[in-house]
Amino acid sequence: MLSTMTYPTLRLNRLRRTQGIRQLVQETHLRPSQFILPLFVRENIADKVKIESLPGVYQHSLSTVIEEVKTCQKRGISSFLLFGIPSQKDKNASSAYQSHGIVQQTIRAIKDIDANLVVIADCCLCEYTDHGHCGILNVKGLDNDATLDILAQIALSYAQAGADIIAPSGMIDGMVRTIRLALDHHGFNDCLILSYAVKYASAFYGPFREAAGSEKFQGTRNHHQLNPAQSKEALREAILDNQEGADMLIIKPASHYLDIIYMISQHLHVPIAAYHVSGEYALLKLAATQSIIKEQDAFLEHYLSSARAGASMIISYNAKEMAHYLSNQ
Ligand code: PBG
Repeated sequence: MLSTMTYPTLRLNRLRRTQGIRQLVQETHLRPSQFILPLFVRENIADKVKIESLPGVYQHSLSTVIEEVKTCQKRGISSFLLFGIPSQKDKNASSAYQSHGIVQQTIRAIKDIDANLVVIADCCLCEYTDHGHCGILNVKGLDNDATLDILAQIALSYAQAGADIIAPSGMIDGMVRTIRLALDHHGFNDCLILSYAVKYASAFYGPFREAAGSEKFQGTRNHHQLNPAQSKEALREAILDNQEGADMLIIKPASHYLDIIYMISQHLHVPIAAYHVSGEYALLKLAATQSIIKEQDAFLEHYLSSARAGASMIISYNAKEMAHYLSNQ
């Protein structure tokens, strides 16, 4: 029941007087184990390469990615989302499903460090096609159904390499169902699907193009990613992916879509990941570089808003730094 007391008997500031009291009543908590760190692994490089538009983030070689995973593990981060940058691209993304592809090798190498680490493989064609689209093209544009066959092959090769979770990210109709059927048919019933169920056609993916080596991409993804002006469609996408067999869902970007996170978390009882994307990261980083904001305080506030809205997992390029910050608080 709402209290009928008012000032001066009621003083809400009493709940905020000391750090001890603030922590005692705190509703939302973040732990390093809720974070997922995206990692870019590039074929045929000896050392890591800086990504200029994402300060502090690198394209890794197979050996530097292992070092990075070990450092993260010491800080309590145990989940990683892998993106591959192959040395060969073609129109059919054929370097995506080779058993010795860069992502497949990385999956095995991380599992060799510790089988308990959670390895999530992003499953899309865009890093592997020479045209940079998320699927196979025909004269009309993206060929949805031809793309599904390739996605199934990629997902299977990731599962065979030992991935715990497949994360289809192309917003291709039917992708979750196709991947679930292919995995089950080959005995990978335990492999989870984390679907990018709600992915908006956002301007905030800008720096990802450099990170994923798809700077040459000229087109638009408006034909398959959601229009930022829509919200009911987001719920339809989430419900559909859930029905098709997704174990968990991604909503992306995060900070500008808190209404969507909240809406879906109210409707579906399925774990939700908020993806704080490259542009969101870069904005905070650049402002912090100019001392306009306090870097980790600002990141924490972003993450808290996603968690309050209903996300239980946070995907962020800042995960390693945040884990350090959280354990020193
Ligand atoms: C597609 C994919 C993209 C991102 C993650 N997966 C790019 C896109 O959809 O255009 C963007 C992530 C980010 O900006 O951090 N495989």
